[in-house]
This record gives sequence, C-alpha cells and structure tokens, in this order.
Amino acid sequence: MLVVIGPAGKGLLHVFSFPPEVDRALRYPPPGAWFPPVKQGTIRLNAGYPFPASVPAQEIAAATQALVAKELDRPFHYLSSPAMRRLPQLLAARSAARGMACDPDSLMVTAGAAQVIDLAARALLGPDDLVAVEAPTYMEALEIFRNYTPHIVAYPVDSDGLDVDALAADLAGRRARGGRVPKLVYTIASFQNPTGATMSPARRRRLLDLADEYGFVILEDDAYGELGYGAELPVPLRALDRSHRVIYAGSLSKIIAPGLRVGWAIAHPDLIRAMWTYKKDLEHSFAQAVMTQYLESIDLGARVAWLRQEYGARRELMMDLLRRYMPAGVTWQEPGGGYFVWVRAAGVDTAEMLPRAVEAGVAYVPGRYFFADEVAGREFMRLSFSFLDASVMEDGVRLLGQVFAAN
Ligand SMILES: Cc1ncc(COP(=O)(O)O)c(C=O)c1O
Repeated sequence: MLVVIGPAGKGLLHVFSFPPEVDRALRYPPPGAWFPPVKQGTIRLNAGYPFPASVPAQEIAAATQALVAKELDRPFHYLSSPAMRRLPQLLAARSAARGMACDPDSLMVTAGAAQVIDLAARALLGPDDLVAVEAPTYMEALEIFRNYTPHIVAYPVDSDGLDVDALAADLAGRRARGGRVPKLVYTIASFQNPTGATMSPARRRRLLDLADEYGFVILEDDAYGELGYGAELPVPLRALDRSHRVIYAGSLSKIIAPGLRVGWAIAHPDLIRAMWTYKKDLEHSFAQAVMTQYLESIDLGARVAWLRQEYGARRELMMDLLRRYMPAGVTWQEPGGGYFVWVRAAGVDTAEMLPRAVEAGVAYVPGRYFFADEVAGREFMRLSFSFLDASVMEDGVRLLGQVFAAN
C-alpha cells in the first residue's frame, strides 16, 4: 500500500510504502471490526465486561486520593512512585498462592493480559514462524498474532478444553514430513473465551510434555482463571511447568476493572527480558500506582469469592433463560466459569442473522470471529452473562429466542 502525505494543494507530497508485514496486517479487517454495531438501548449480550455494580469506582477514587495525598506529585513522573514499585510484589504473592511462586526477574507488570500476548508474540514470532491457537479463541489474540505472522494453525476445543490429541497428531505429522512445528501455542486453558471450557488436568500434563518434546512455548492466558463457579479452581499450566515452557498472562481486568490496564507475565527470566526489551511504555503508569494503592486497601481473596458467587448466579440464570426461551435446534455448552456461554444454532449463519437481532433490540458476537479462518463457527455465537442485570438479561434472551424462532 502506498501512502501519500503532505500539505494539501502545495505540491509537497511524499509517497512511501509500508514494510511487507505491515501491508499484510492491513489486509485484515481493522481491530475490533467484529464488534456488533449497536444502537442506544440495544441489549448487549455481546459485552464481555464486568457488571457495572462490581466495578469498585468509589474505592478506586478513594485510593487515588490516598495515593496523591501520600506521594504528592511523584506518581505523575517517570519511575518515581513507591506504590508502583510494590505492585510486582503484590502480584507475585497472589501468583504464589496459586502455585506460581517466582523470582522478581520472572515477573513483569503489563498493561493487561493483552500486552503480554503482544509482547510474547513480538519476542518470539518472526514472519515465517507458526503460532497455534484454539478453535475458537479470543479474537483479539488472533488480531495480535496476525500482526506478526500469517501462519496461524488452529486445533479444536471441546468440553475438556484444547484437543491435545489433535495437536499431538498434527505435530507428529509435521515432524514426519519435515515441516515446521508451532513455536508458540496460545491457550486459554481455564474458562475459555468464548466456550467457557476448561482444559482437563490430563490434557494439561500432556500439553506440557508435548512442549518439551517439540520445543514450543506455551502462552497461557489466564484472564478468567479465578472466576470458576464450582468448588475447585483449575491449577494453572504455569504451576505444573517444570521446564519453563510457559509464559503466563494474568489480568486484573475481570476481577477488578479493565480500564486500569493491569496484567502481568510470569516466565523464564530470559523470556521476560526479551519481552521487556520491546515494552516501550516507559515503565510507569499512574493507573498501576492507583491499582497498587487499591489492592493494599482490600482483601482481594474475599472480593474474588464474592465475584465467584455473583457470576455463578448469573451463569445459572443464563442457563435457565436459554432453557426457557431457545427454540429446538439451539444448543449450548455449560460454562464452568468465566463470562460467556457458547451457543450453537444449527443451520443458521449467525453473522447474517445479527442485523435482525439488533433490529429486534439484542446483540451478540457471531461465532466466526473467534476462528482464524472466519469460516468455521458460522453457526455459533457468544453470549455474555457477566454484564447485564437479571431482568435485562431475560429480555435479551427472550428477544433472541424470538429471532431464532422466526428464522
Ligand atoms: C481471553 C482473554 N484474554 C485477555 C483479555 C484482555 O485482558 P486485559 O484487559 O487484561 O488485557 C480478554 C478480555 O476480554 C480475554 O477475554
């Protein structure tokens, strides 16, 4: 693509072209193009956000005031907030409680799990490298990987998470043919977006063994890892990892607030160093200093326990509403945690149906956007039970049931 820039009408135009990899990335739809167009008042079953009353806005405001009262102008400068420097320790302690004890040089604070994905991809993937994803997977991760390589290979997810047998068979085939194997395998092993599925313990161990055998790195996105609605939470891959094969991506977005942009990576110090080299946000964030102050003022364990109850009740409600309002031919997988339910409408192209649903007053995310090829997933849609209150959620699912029934 050629870009022409210069002052209009002055004849001082410059023409330049992007490097080939940028040209390639620009051929895809722009980031977020999957987000359905919703008008005011549409019931947003598409929204993967925490419910508004769960966001501790007043407490964060109080933490901001306390921070500024204590540190004055310091958090507004580069590198000089004492609070900011305590954040890695807080995140390390939280991770250690989940079996992921680590040294300071193995942990890096980031602007969310999304930045971990971006930095891992940037540090590890050249334009000829292969990256493996789940089918379906988090669509923003697909957007990130496409920025670095066109070679994305996908393996199915079932109710036990990533189909590790399919991965193993494909790896063996690739090796036998002398072909490339993936350098990075990206998995949302716990309470996956969009399916809600969780990888079984046996598959986790097998995936780690395969990583040793074939030499790939696992990027474990644990954005929903603490939001399980059963008695036990899954053990992260990183906690089972004996050979530093896993880059762990944690996030406070789903349990506190996405807008503060706090996440973290845990990985081998050399991988952390490579990712850090590319992390050019000058090592400081006012929001992260505020988050530190906030975290020090609360009992995060108690908050997560409360959220598990709240979201668990919303999940139950969503299951009940689907049973009540969906016509025959519509099926779904019961999520063990997270924010979403993955719904299948046999014979329906959900992207084509979306304008009718929006017209009726309800939005969802069509399934195709969660697949690397955007062809699979036609009959699926992702509904969120995290964001809406009970009565609105009921209206939304009822309307959606009517749209399906009329189809
Ligand atoms: C699987 C998954 N990973 C990462 C993110 C983004 O997390 P963060 O806000 O920490 O960047 C999301 C948000 O929806 C997600 O669903």
